[in-house]
Amino acid sequence: MDFKNKHFKRYTITSALPYANGPVHIGHLAGVYVPADIYARYLRMKGEDVLFIGGSDEHGVPITIKARQQGISPQEVVDKYHFMIKDSFEKLGISFDVYSRTSSPVHHETASDFFKTLYEKGEFIEKFSQQYYDEDAKHFLADRYITGTCPHCGNENAYGDQCERCGTSLSPLDLINPRSALSGNVPVLRETKHWYLPLDKAEGWLREWILEGHKDDWKTNVYGQCKSWIDQGLQPRAVTRDLDWGVKVPLPDTDGKVLYVWFDAPIGYISAAREWAEATGKKWEPYWKSDESKLVHFIGKDNIVFHCIIFPAMLHSEGSYILPENVPANEFLNLEGEKISTSRNWAVWLHEYLLEFPGKEDVLRYVLTANAPETKDNDFTWKDFQTRNNSELLAIFGNFVNRTLVLTQKYFEGVVPPMGHINESDKETLKQMDAFPELIGKSVENYRFREALNELMNLARLGNKYLTDNEPWKTFKTDPQRTATVLAVSLQLVAKLAIVSAPFLPFTSAKLRIMISMDAADWNAAKQTLLLPDGHVLGETGFLFERIEDEAIQRQITKLQETKLANQQVAQPALKPQKELITYEDFARMDIRTGTILTAEIVPKTQKLLKLTIDTGLDQRTVVSGIAEHYKPEEIIGQKVCMLVNLAPRQLKGITSNGMILMAENSEGKLCFVEPTADFHNGSDVK
Ligand code: 2FM
Ligand code: ZN
Repeated sequence: MDFKNKHFKRYTITSALPYANGPVHIGHLAGVYVPADIYARYLRMKGEDVLFIGGSDEHGVPITIKARQQGISPQEVVDKYHFMIKDSFEKLGISFDVYSRTSSPVHHETASDFFKTLYEKGEFIEKFSQQYYDEDAKHFLADRYITGTCPHCGNENAYGDQCERCGTSLSPLDLINPRSALSGNVPVLRETKHWYLPLDKAEGWLREWILEGHKDDWKTNVYGQCKSWIDQGLQPRAVTRDLDWGVKVPLPDTDGKVLYVWFDAPIGYISAAREWAEATGKKWEPYWKSDESKLVHFIGKDNIVFHCIIFPAMLHSEGSYILPENVPANEFLNLEGEKISTSRNWAVWLHEYLLEFPGKEDVLRYVLTANAPETKDNDFTWKDFQTRNNSELLAIFGNFVNRTLVLTQKYFEGVVPPMGHINESDKETLKQMDAFPELIGKSVENYRFREALNELMNLARLGNKYLTDNEPWKTFKTDPQRTATVLAVSLQLVAKLAIVSAPFLPFTSAKLRIMISMDAADWNAAKQTLLLPDGHVLGETGFLFERIEDEAIQRQITKLQETKLANQQVAQPALKPQKELITYEDFARMDIRTGTILTAEIVPKTQKLLKLTIDTGLDQRTVVSGIAEHYKPEEIIGQKVCMLVNLAPRQLKGITSNGMILMAENSEGKLCFVEPTADFHNGSDVK
């Protein structure tokens, strides 16, 4: 890890900007925000100069899609989630120095200037390409706005960038029968101009900087991904898009073009520093432009290429910024053995947790750190959450602190007794406990937060063992000075715990410091043995943790089971059972042909019936069809259909109907045409 022992004057710590189109969940917290916060809090406690940056990522196509689905503006979508996310981070104690947002004016200006600088330096290449355009909506279509049939699995609702059924990455041109999600129309290809960052040209220095320079100090998962990207050969990357939500391209004649969200979002870290500087009257440049500053990006593994290759290439092209010293990306956290999924609501949402477990912010921080997916994907289960609270936080940490403080109240009226003579075993305990701050600190500095937390618990375990071995409650009658010594030693350990727990469990540390009347949590002081002098008056003793009962856990498990059930019902609509068997001859008696609807009108005094004229290839005939609740007459003129042409004529509302149109009907009773492709002439056989 960070073996290079360079001492930096200041730290610029960034945490991935979450998209403001939904709340944050435990996967985000375990992967990014809890470790970043531990790191920032630890460094501040050591007296380092830290700027810890967070904010909302408020651009990109999914936000515009959500807005369209909800019939509100993209700004309304991001306003809602930005404030919700910001509030829940605050409540969990994520100690950002600034929590900004990319829809802010300072960000638009920063991102725009950044683009202009690169443009003026000739760092981009301009390229024309063919892109789908919706002529009705007068709009180029982002990949997500084009749907069509997946060439791999036949899913008719694949997106222009991915088929969600078979998982294949696609390009819009791969789709069969592409349709615009804006109008449902067939889009046309049109030429459009975009600006590209020629990553291929950066390959040389990226190789040297990452593959040679960071072989030993970047995590293997991060290094491995970078190596594989670089070895595959880097390609120029478009940094602009045809879209109307985002930072406008700051060049003439570029209406309807914005910066690509992954170009503007990381610049959001810089904008946030500027916002912080304006608010505090400090300077932001040293945090971004001085070699004496250490830039560290906390992210999840899906963001590695953007933070290790693309953003550094942007910073390098600009020329005046530092590059990250480290990018300690985590793997993913699963929930009860399954991938966390926003669309399937398979998640523990932070805002809900905070409401359902008030006062237990540190429990979540603890469990997510103890189970952090640092080297491989990991699993969160509610049973493990309960066990870690009851058998670790409560039974080890809480129990040691409680025993020590209660005994001190009982025998010494809450005043730290004189340590007096210390024997060899006391000395050994004092020596061992003094080593912990350094040990924990080193693990944090190397981004090994699980290991650090485990050491913190080992410190509490040491305290428990010391109390159990020395039984100060037994010696009080016969040798009260021995009781005083043991409690004085234990109180130093409690004080040490109060300090070194602060980055991990800030609420607990604050509570504990009130109980022992200790003001500051200074990491450097924690290395001293005597933290509470004799005669020091303690505060009131209380409990640090509460037991979590089975009922509370069962409620959460039930909630997840209900989610699963709801998902299954959506995924598997109740289907009608298969009808009884028929012979091929039965089927072959039906004459089904392709045709085209020529005219359509509502049958007077009915809600459901349309009178259609159909060109069957054989003739033009009248058919009465019960589709009026699903289609407007004017929508279906020219619609290709399949139709049973040899159905005996029937009288419907006084009209003779000569045949029947084939429609598919889903479990909600929605109808759609069974349609041949446009190039099939009327009268073709359907069999
Ligand atoms: O993956 C994501 O959630 C992105 N919104 C992260 C952006 S990080 C940074 F570049 F802003
Ligand atoms: Zn597919």
